Amino acid sequence: MRPISAKILKVIDETPTIKTFRLDTAGWLKGKPGQFVMVWARGVDEVPMALSYEDGITVQRVGEATEAMFRLKEGDTLGIRGPYGNGWELVGDNILIISGGVGSAPLAPLAEKAAAIGVQVTVLAGYRTKEEVHFETRYRKAGKTLISTDDGSYGHKGFVTDLMRDIDLSMYTQIYCCGPEKMMYRVLGILDGHKMADRSQFSLQRHMKCGIGVCGSCCIDPDGLRVCRDGPVFRGDTLISSELGRYARDGSGRRLKLWL
Ligand code: FES
Repeated sequence: MRPISAKILKVIDETPTIKTFRLDTAGWLKGKPGQFVMVWARGVDEVPMALSYEDGITVQRVGEATEAMFRLKEGDTLGIRGPYGNGWELVGDNILIISGGVGSAPLAPLAEKAAAIGVQVTVLAGYRTKEEVHFETRYRKAGKTLISTDDGSYGHKGFVTDLMRDIDLSMYTQIYCCGPEKMMYRVLGILDGHKMADRSQFSLQRHMKCGIGVCGSCCIDPDGLRVCRDGPVFRGDTLISSELGRYARDGSGRRLKLWL
């Protein structure tokens, strides 16, 4: 279970706060959309990262480990364990993808995979500002794409959940969502109101230590489902009565209240 050293082949500046790292994994990684890897930023920390490509991760600068990763250059290495987790289950022939910020990381490869096998794809993608827009080309190549920004600097002014009002949700065979927890909580509430929670999948982020279902640090209430092993993708109806949107836990297991 030791990390394998992967050379960074390419660093792509997606936005001022988001970079993509394409890795030389010599074919051993082969993750599927929705799976994640544990990334060891040497000397700092090991953190879970969704695969944004079969051999790549897309990272937002938010803490010590990601700060350290932002200092890395092509030719440097990262320690990688994985891929882990269940990944998205592709259901039906007409899917809706709802993406918030860097929640795009596991969703863009899903959109591409679905489009490649003839599934009709619609994407609602929300960002804070125009400067933070990324993966737009990947989404547009996969299907019809509507964009929102919180400040209105690009696309619809407002939240990605606003865009859900203008479409007939019932026409989609499955709805996939990843983004800030507040946004996912709202999306799940809307879908539940349409009695469609059982037709949706959400990718969760929680504090992880082992990444393989042993340590319990990523368990969610009330059922103790392990985000690393039973997820990170869960059906919406599984999450309705969960801690989603209410609290998460820090590295020592203490509850961190979210915003409600
Ligand atoms: S990170 Fe250890 S059980 Fe999930």
